Amino acid sequence: MPSLIIRNGRVITASDDYVADVYCDNGKVAAIGANLPANRFQADRTVDASGQYVMPGGIDVHTHLDMPFGGTTSADDFESGTTAAAHGGTTSIVDFAIQYRGQTMRHALDEWRKKAEGKAAIDYGFHMIVTELPDAGLEEMDRLVRDEGITSFKLFMAYPGVFMVDDATIFRALQRTGENGGLVCMHAENGGVIDELVKEALRKGQTAPKYHALTRPSRAEGEATGRAIALAEMAGVPIYIVHLSAADALEKVKQARDMGLPAYAETCPQYLFLSYDNYEEPGFDGAKYVMSPPLRDKWHQDVLWKGLAKNDLQVISTDHCPFCMAEQKTLGKDDFSKIPNGAPGIETRLTLVHNGGVRSGRMNLNRFVELCSTTPAKMFGLFPRKGTIAVGSDADIVLFDPNRKQTLGVKTLHMKVDYNPYEGTTVHGSPSMVIANGKVIIEDGKYVGKKGDGRFLARGQSLAASL
Ligand code: URP
Ligand code: ZN
Ligand code: ZN
Repeated sequence: MPSLIIRNGRVITASDDYVADVYCDNGKVAAIGANLPANRFQADRTVDASGQYVMPGGIDVHTHLDMPFGGTTSADDFESGTTAAAHGGTTSIVDFAIQYRGQTMRHALDEWRKKAEGKAAIDYGFHMIVTELPDAGLEEMDRLVRDEGITSFKLFMAYPGVFMVDDATIFRALQRTGENGGLVCMHAENGGVIDELVKEALRKGQTAPKYHALTRPSRAEGEATGRAIALAEMAGVPIYIVHLSAADALEKVKQARDMGLPAYAETCPQYLFLSYDNYEEPGFDGAKYVMSPPLRDKWHQDVLWKGLAKNDLQVISTDHCPFCMAEQKTLGKDDFSKIPNGAPGIETRLTLVHNGGVRSGRMNLNRFVELCSTTPAKMFGLFPRKGTIAVGSDADIVLFDPNRKQTLGVKTLHMKVDYNPYEGTTVHGSPSMVIANGKVIIEDGKYVGKKGDGRFLARGQSLAASL
């Protein structure tokens, strides 16, 4: 594999910020230092990174590529989704394999590995979605953690009849992670209450997209978040709340953390930058934002930013789950409950968070890297191989130009979906070059990598306890 030296860039990790050269060989970071001598570090390619941030590649621990859901399949597969991720500076993802009822987790893992194999542009791992848990399933959880590098499990307190499991199942899974070292990730919304509210709305003829949000109150997220944390406390294990959207839920995480409990949570850019108002857009446009949990009233955004600042939220992921307006979102034209849940975001995470977080003074560059790369790596057993720039780490590196402007939209982005929630928004700062495992894969706005170069990541155990 050709070697590469990145000269004069501003190296930013979760803890450091200094100007240096980074020498990459055999897909790894092999040396870092000021003015590395050319006679000792002979590289096949030299890249001048003056004026640019040299950051560890983004790690998105919440994506749904090629996912059957809501009567259709998410619009990005592992080729288009990971290529779009790379354009946005993300060099690893953790997607979700789904164990459907009556099927084994082994089967689910095989299916999802087949979906990704030979297609991915960047490295990928999997969480396992668990929809039932007989005794044999408990043993499968052990095997996944021990033998397969699947060290986290997502359970749902919502979507009755599809993914939702009861408290006993959740408790069994939590207890088992106490023995096998896995981590439970929770979709925390009270699915029973929401289902009743949905039926009531439809009875009243309330079918427009905005009723998706109005039937999923933030209290339903807060209640489920508190319950999930209480179940984890009783089981004596850590818990990770996914796609946290609301102040009510954050309050439960904060209370738990103040008590010293190992409760962790991620939020996503859509909850930081979009709001309930988007559901009021004309016609059927509100469907673009139908996701669960839904977008909240604007004031929740400030509370989430504060949560990021105080480390009550430790990760920013995307929950990338795109569905086209044509033919997919329209499945719910006459009934909001039939609109497939999810929105695109895999490509826009770093630029949005840099623009709205770093440039606006809400966080510094170290925290930006920590939230989007380092803590995701630690939380999900990828650190220090991923999530930092250090000798011996994978050479997953983003050259991020803080002054490079980008106008977000369907025409400029690469996700295979016919709308963008941020259409027309101009962000300052975007990746100028992306390197994955020592190879340049994005240059001059073009993908120059090779489909299938992304490798399956067998992950280790979470370092959550140290966070
Ligand atoms: O609306 C969403 N979030 N779709 C993806 C599935 C999930 O719950 O994460
Ligand atoms: Zn979810
Ligand atoms: Zn999701």
